[in-house]
Amino acid sequence: MSESFTIAVDGPAAAGKGTISKAVAAHYGFGHLDTGLLYRAVGAKMMEGTAAAEAARNLTPEDLARDDLRGPEVAQAASKVAVIAEVRAALVDFQRAFARRAGGAVLDGRDIGTVICPYAQVKLFVTASAEVRARRRFLELTSAGKVVSLEDVLADVKARDERDMNRAEAPLKPAADAVLIDTSELSIDEALAAALTVIEARRQAVPQS
Ligand code: DC
Repeated sequence: MSESFTIAVDGPAAAGKGTISKAVAAHYGFGHLDTGLLYRAVGAKMMEGTAAAEAARNLTPEDLARDDLRGPEVAQAASKVAVIAEVRAALVDFQRAFARRAGGAVLDGRDIGTVICPYAQVKLFVTASAEVRARRRFLELTSAGKVVSLEDVLADVKARDERDMNRAEAPLKPAADAVLIDTSELSIDEALAAALTVIEARRQAVPQS
């Protein structure tokens, strides 16, 4: 397939969208862009004293390859810089160019189906209850050796949801034509199967070249 085929995967933190997106991209041989990483890289630079908009305009591949972007402090910083219109604007072109790459692309984030790729052939909104998401993130962090409490992780998840859903610029919400996948009660395999069912139906409907 040489035409671009774009799959937009949005949803709140730790709903499973990263896992689903990676697996979907591997399944079809598509490229995958975790757009949260862009905001995390900007957040990390802001924590070091760089103005957020300037950091967003000058992001380098090395900034994205840092191994300290996954922690909860950087996640909160990412959510904070993500409310700034200049930051979001500086990251749009890169994301859209990735989405149009030949051979297909999966992008996951908060505003992919609504703002970055409103033309995407498939839009998924992956969600789960805040408690389930906090438990998953807690297990992820503790198994990576981080010392955190479940209570703090839940508070972090809720604070980030609140900020991401209520900001003026590109708030987290499902696109009108997104298909909702609630992973609260699903295993990873079940969630992936649900996503592939939706995508296959769209691939049948959209002519391939
Ligand atoms: O997906 P993540 O947890 O790595 O995202 C970190 C933060 O970045 C998230 O809380 C909000 C912001 N973000 C965003 O505003 N838009 C995106 N497309 C992706 C992430």
